[in-house]
Amino acid sequence: MKTSTINDLRMAYRVEGNGEPVLFVHGFPLSSRLWEPMIEPLSPEHSLIMPDLRGMGGSGVTPTASMERYAADLAGVLDAIGEKRPVTLVGMSMGGYVAFEFFRRYRGKVKALVLVDTRAGNDTPEAAKGRRETAKKVLDEGSVVVANAMTPKLFGKAAPEPLVESWRGIMSATSPVGVAAALVAMADRPDSTTTLAKIDVPTLIIVGEEDAITPPAEARTMHAAVVGSKLEVIAGAGHMTPVEKPVEFARILGEFLKSAG
Ligand code: MLT
Repeated sequence: MKTSTINDLRMAYRVEGNGEPVLFVHGFPLSSRLWEPMIEPLSPEHSLIMPDLRGMGGSGVTPTASMERYAADLAGVLDAIGEKRPVTLVGMSMGGYVAFEFFRRYRGKVKALVLVDTRAGNDTPEAAKGRRETAKKVLDEGSVVVANAMTPKLFGKAAPEPLVESWRGIMSATSPVGVAAALVAMADRPDSTTTLAKIDVPTLIIVGEEDAITPPAEARTMHAAVVGSKLEVIAGAGHMTPVEKPVEFARILGEFLKSAG
């Protein structure tokens, strides 16, 4: 991992390979390790940029966050590595929420979009209230609260136990302050539904058939609203498609990257 001071904190990121740039944004409360299975198949022809969002992985922690700040951090990473070309932006789940914000703020930096196991809508008032309560609980009791609540929902039925447990460990080890900040940032995030009709770059939508957190119905809604988008439903996968079905995910993404030029 490399680190650079970006905006107000230390950002950790990995850059692998050579070629057209692809910027990967992980979900909550995960890390850039989500994209590790993409390195071998895709790095020979692409430059893979994989940051840890603030408060997660190896990046610095701040008590508050927002979609706007996460998006600004990503722009900062591109500046830090001198990447001036527009990127294919791949956002998984909360990373998708950040991707919508990045698209709105830095349209010129986006060449194509890949929305992975995510949704365009924001939280209902009840869901937002639940997130704020969970944030308080995490600050009192630790990130294990979120790790234990999320682990059973993250994976499809056939996911191997060691894979599931390794991600429970990664989530549990994430800073409670970073987790709480992300929960509040998600509760406060804007509705991106109206952004869908404004997306004018090649767009791929990927979802696990058994995704219980952002189900295929959400992906179909986005697919219907983004003109010219492509939808891929990965059989036998839950919410964690890049690590549950890495070979299929890399094939689908690789074909899209070729077609998007
Ligand atoms: C994620 O996987 O990033 C989160 O579960 C998304 C969410 O809670 O809305």
